[in-house]
Amino acid sequence: MKSVVIQQPEVLVIEDRPVPQPQVGEVRLRVESAGICGSDVHIYRGHNPFAKYPRVIGHEFFGRIDAVGEGVDKSRVGQRVVGDPVVSCGHCYPCSVGRPNVCTSLQVIGVHRDGGFSEYITLPARNAHIVPDSIPDREATMIEPFTIAANICSQMNPGPLDVALVYGAGPMGLTSIQALRGVYGVKEIIVADRIDERLAMAKENGADRVINNTDIDLSAELAKLGIRPTLIIDAACHPSILPEAIGLASPAARIGIMGFSSDPCVINQQGITSKELTIHSSRLNSNRFPMVIDWMNSKKIHPEKLITHQFDYTQVVEAMEIFEKDPKFCCKVLLKF
Ligand code: NAI
Ligand code: MN
Ligand code: ZN
Repeated sequence: MKSVVIQQPEVLVIEDRPVPQPQVGEVRLRVESAGICGSDVHIYRGHNPFAKYPRVIGHEFFGRIDAVGEGVDKSRVGQRVVGDPVVSCGHCYPCSVGRPNVCTSLQVIGVHRDGGFSEYITLPARNAHIVPDSIPDREATMIEPFTIAANICSQMNPGPLDVALVYGAGPMGLTSIQALRGVYGVKEIIVADRIDERLAMAKENGADRVINNTDIDLSAELAKLGIRPTLIIDAACHPSILPEAIGLASPAARIGIMGFSSDPCVINQQGITSKELTIHSSRLNSNRFPMVIDWMNSKKIHPEKLITHQFDYTQVVEAMEIFEKDPKFCCKVLLKF
């Protein structure tokens, strides 16, 4: 089989590898399509602290089960499935309280173990979620990115009284905007980004008001407009954002962060406690695939809006370069296998 392998930072090779055999409790997928994510590019460029090389990348993948290992029902062969990249132990403290995404021995497919940019992949049977026929292949490939939004939103519990502020209109911001609009029905969604083309996408995906905060003080701008956000999602993830968000939040607001920066950011207790703010953090997803499949099936979200490009996997380098260099016109890039 052919697999997209990052042999070491900056060295991407399409390798011939033996087709893997599913182990006990695993299924094998014939991968049909996969999505490129910022973290794939980070592994390619050597900027992901968790990655070990060589690595088959890709954690957003869809395909059909073509073989099963011992202990897995043979009737699963032929199922259309999407893979949850979170592989967890099932018995540590976080797993026991329903948070396998921060399992103490977490293995993320495409990061800690070989991923979905490959003609075949094996994974635990419980990580392969059936996709109903009403969801086309391309949309099914988008389930994983929406699980990130589902995870942070599930923690923050958005509602019709909320005035939401989303920082960043990249794929993560846009999936969050779609969920806030189509699933949770918040009162108002304001989006801040530095790129006008991305703000235009934010509007197409459900934002009511967009603000380019390249040269303005967002706090002052919102104050001028009389807006005090009650729910803030940081999908831009610069360390300067959390202190700003604490300052501009309404009393009793919730703030959700998703960033992995190791740079310090300066916050103070008074800013948080005086308004009794809640700060959530969210990593990957904890069993949110069924939830997102339901959202898609009931047309509450519109994944096609995010797909701007599609390539054959043999053009993976070109695809990754467009994804990296063209944020104005590129959102989600799919690879066909
Ligand atoms: P992206 O780079 O495509 O989008 C980020 C957007 O934020 C860009 O449009 C950029 O112009 C904008 N931005 C940057 N600084 C800003 C600022 N100060 N104010 C307003 N907008 C600003 O990235 P993508 O794929 O949407 O991911 C966003 C972040 O989420 C990344 O940092 C990524 O590491 C993180 N992430 C976290 C996950 C988690 O599970 N916790 C999962 C996936 C991504
Ligand atoms: Mn991703
Ligand atoms: Zn565990």
